[in-house]
Amino acid sequence: MSATALSETIPATAPKEEAVGHHSRRTFAIISHPDAGKTTLTEKLLLAGGAIEMAGAVRSKGNGRRAKSDWMDIEKSRGISVTSSVMTFERDGITFNLLDTPGHSDFSEDTYRTLTAVDSAIMVIDAAKGIEAQTRKLFEICRLRDIPIITFVNKVDREGRDPFELLDEIEEQLALTVAPLVWPVGQGGLFKGCYNLASNDFLFAGSDKTVHYDGGLDDPALVKALPADIYAGFRDSAELAAEGYADFDPEAYRQGHLTPVIFGSALQNFAVDQLMDVIAEHAPSPRPQPSDKGPVDPDGDKVSGFVFKVQANMDPKHRDRVAFVRFCSGHFRRGMKLDHVRSGKQLAVSNPIYFFAQERALTEEAYAGDVIGIPNHGTLRVGDTLTEGENFRFTGLPAFAPEVLRRVRLEDSMKLKQLRRGLEDLAEEGLVQVFRPSIGSDWIVGVVGPLQLDVLASRIAGEYKADVSFEPVPFNVARWIRSENDAKLQAFIRENITHVSRDRDGRPVYLCKDSWDLRFMMDRNKDIAFDATREIV
Ligand code: G4P
Repeated sequence: MSATALSETIPATAPKEEAVGHHSRRTFAIISHPDAGKTTLTEKLLLAGGAIEMAGAVRSKGNGRRAKSDWMDIEKSRGISVTSSVMTFERDGITFNLLDTPGHSDFSEDTYRTLTAVDSAIMVIDAAKGIEAQTRKLFEICRLRDIPIITFVNKVDREGRDPFELLDEIEEQLALTVAPLVWPVGQGGLFKGCYNLASNDFLFAGSDKTVHYDGGLDDPALVKALPADIYAGFRDSAELAAEGYADFDPEAYRQGHLTPVIFGSALQNFAVDQLMDVIAEHAPSPRPQPSDKGPVDPDGDKVSGFVFKVQANMDPKHRDRVAFVRFCSGHFRRGMKLDHVRSGKQLAVSNPIYFFAQERALTEEAYAGDVIGIPNHGTLRVGDTLTEGENFRFTGLPAFAPEVLRRVRLEDSMKLKQLRRGLEDLAEEGLVQVFRPSIGSDWIVGVVGPLQLDVLASRIAGEYKADVSFEPVPFNVARWIRSENDAKLQAFIRENITHVSRDRDGRPVYLCKDSWDLRFMMDRNKDIAFDATREIV
């Protein structure tokens, strides 16, 4: 894909000239367990932001998740997963950058990295299920980085759990103060709409009508608007919700201690507008980002940013890669030369791509919080820092030791070159990790979940024309090894050569059968650190 070709076919929708810089940016992700409604909510946010015109435009992603084969076809077709990596839309002068995270837990590493590039998150919870495993995992990552969270309790249009039970569950399980903001009126078949406890606005089910009640819960017009029994139940519960829980404190929210809770329905487009209002008004604009020279302030004049994701083969016809860069400071303009800190070289960014739901175009400028794609041929890697003449690196991008290890078997030995290229590219994307054993010439690949192996085989066949299969290896655990004492590390490697592989960057990795073996080795080699995670630098 050439960006020039893109710009010819798609009207430029870059951020407007009059945009008020990074203060108008809201860069966020949605975290949820599969099926809670992330795709539906994404679509409704894009509709509300005018980024798509038709419901159903991002639905195929949800369908793809269900069946593995469908999912792979969609992944192969590239269009949807790519355009949904970042979705930018504007409303009332605010630019929303929604960064997509894969729903399936096998792709969690990609999600963790994406969360390093956001300033806030929306946690979507299914009203019938409450907090689920994947929600909790992702929440913990957000907590590590103090990412503030707005909770959207979805699917209140159908029978769900008691709202108070859900609030208590969030408070207890996630140790977060909850502040209910938008409250459901009836549930399931008796669902009548949502009531904003702060503004006293009632959004009626079955219509787009929002009615403001000056008199609050006791306003005679509100009493009249609802059947008597529904009103009575709603009034009691709404009062309890308003009085029995914390008031919404924007500062406590921004510090990550409190979550405002919005009950709504993505499918029925209920309370989605209110959600956008809360993001626009209260979600933080770009926050300082950690680096090896201390936090980088978004107000800084010099441009800086980091690569948090790389996508290979966005257009299978033109083998290329797009590096997704999150800007952290300064005012970027197209054509600028930025320093690529890892290589020490300069990079002229002449074709930065901006993503507008399903469309892409060249962008002329960007501010802290914005995400652009830079087409390149492998220069840019996940974790790379770009600066305007400064020498520092952003920190905190994690890589995790894989949990499933397999030897790659090539069906046709003539395709070795293609296989090497495919493994390099897809490892760069973060789809798999690749290890070279010290002895032997096979590659070992490591993944978090087995679904990644299916996608790997399918993409190597489709994009690199090489058929591969995977064989078990006698290892299930991988740890990066390092030591302050290099002689001891080298001695350890020599003594355990059949267990030591090298990762893509040549770092030694110790492979063993199980956690028992690992503990045994750790006890016997106190000078060696066995790391389950490492920082990408
Ligand atoms: P995900 O991306 O988090 O995995 O969830 P997705 O949006 O795909 O939603 C999962 C299912 O929940 C879909 O139903 C979707 O229509 C439904 N859903 C989402 N939001 C709401 C809501 O507010 N109310 C109700 N009642 N349902 C909701 P499906 O039957 O699995 O798919 P589809 O046939 O509707 O596409």
